Amino acid sequence: MAGRRTVGGLTVRAIVYRGPRDLAVTDVPDRPLRPGDVRVSVVTAGVCGTDVRIYEGEHSAYANGIGRVPGHEIVGRVAQADTMPPGLARGDLVFIAPNIGCGLCGQCARGNENLCATTEGIGITLDGGFAEHVVVPARAVTRGNLIRLDDASSGTDAAVLIEPLACVLRGQDKINVGSGDTVLVGGGGPVGLLHIALARVRGASLVICSEPSPERRAAARTAGAAVVVDPGSGDLDAAVAEATDGAGVDVVITAAPVHALQTAAVRLAAPTGRVLFFGGLPRSRPTVELDTNAIHYKELTVAGTTASTLDDCRRAAELVGHGRIELDWMISDRIGLPDLPQAIAKVRDAATLKVVVKPSTAKEAAR
Ligand SMILES: NC(=O)c1ccc[n+]([C@@H]2O[C@H](COP(=O)([O-])OP(=O)(O)OC[C@H]3O[C@@H](n4cnc5c(N)ncnc54)[C@H](O)[C@@H]3O)[C@@H](O)[C@H]2O)c1
Ligand SMILES: [Zn+2]
Ligand SMILES: [Zn+2]
Repeated sequence: MAGRRTVGGLTVRAIVYRGPRDLAVTDVPDRPLRPGDVRVSVVTAGVCGTDVRIYEGEHSAYANGIGRVPGHEIVGRVAQADTMPPGLARGDLVFIAPNIGCGLCGQCARGNENLCATTEGIGITLDGGFAEHVVVPARAVTRGNLIRLDDASSGTDAAVLIEPLACVLRGQDKINVGSGDTVLVGGGGPVGLLHIALARVRGASLVICSEPSPERRAAARTAGAAVVVDPGSGDLDAAVAEATDGAGVDVVITAAPVHALQTAAVRLAAPTGRVLFFGGLPRSRPTVELDTNAIHYKELTVAGTTASTLDDCRRAAELVGHGRIELDWMISDRIGLPDLPQAIAKVRDAATLKVVVKPSTAKEAAR
């Protein structure tokens, strides 16, 4: 486009949510930087289930007609700031931790900014990463939401998975997944696969994955599951009993919004087992009938976690940056910005693992 510049210029190419199933490739005005803001040139942005919910018009932060840019799993390069934050230089590769707590409330004081009542999110309540550039506000910069990545670290694209991995790390910390544990992960979507991979890194002796899709069962094996089960045709209870000599599993993680999984979790856990409800249930039906006697007589711990904190993001970035967890194999599709409106439906396709957007592709195409 004639006269179009990318940094500090006239417009930035972005995907804008206009209403349900209406994402448009748009040249939006380049937002001027306020003191302390940092403009990041987006290298890769991950597409996840939250973006699909936004696209469908099911996300409470995205009102009809809002005109906001989604994308909360972002890796980019520092492009512009009036004053560079300490430790960062132009061109540095960074992961952007998306959640910004108010910093003042009791939960923020405890480091639980994911539970802050007024938390903001880049790509959720603020313009996000499905764009050539994203502006990280000063209040996020000063809290440390720009996490520098080593350029030499493997797979820049896979670094977008630091965001969901941070959530997964928070979940596994909560129930202390550790060495020698037998673990059942219900659901082999991108999140279930991260749970499998992380459980192995943390020393789990055996991971079982229950997943209806054959492609995702194969991916679960790649992630490190020794046993995979189809909950439709296979007998999950029998598979768990066989793999654990009838003991049940030490840890059950539900990584799918499925009622039957939550019910099965307390049944399949071994005495003193730990259960993590990681995948929420649809708002229209958020309850299940739970055998609480199983919790009582087996002395189970049942827990839940939601999203991640800055600390979780930093530790997840360390795991990825130091090669403790290798995730490049999960990137199944690399697309340009203009392809996103068509590709979003694909995220739900079982054959797809992780779709990432490469906004520079749009920039090249526009030249
Ligand atoms: N707690 C958190 O912080 C957090 C963060 C991100 C995602 N999540 C949740 O994690 C869940 C998984 O996310 P995702 O992106 O991988 O979703 P996804 O939809 O891609 O994956 C869910 C998988 O579950 C499988 N499944 C369906 N029915 C099943 C059954 N009966 N038993 C076992 N598996 C079954 C599906 O085939 C699919 O592969 C979602 O519910 C999501 O909302 C939670
Ligand atoms: Zn996400
Ligand atoms: Zn707060």
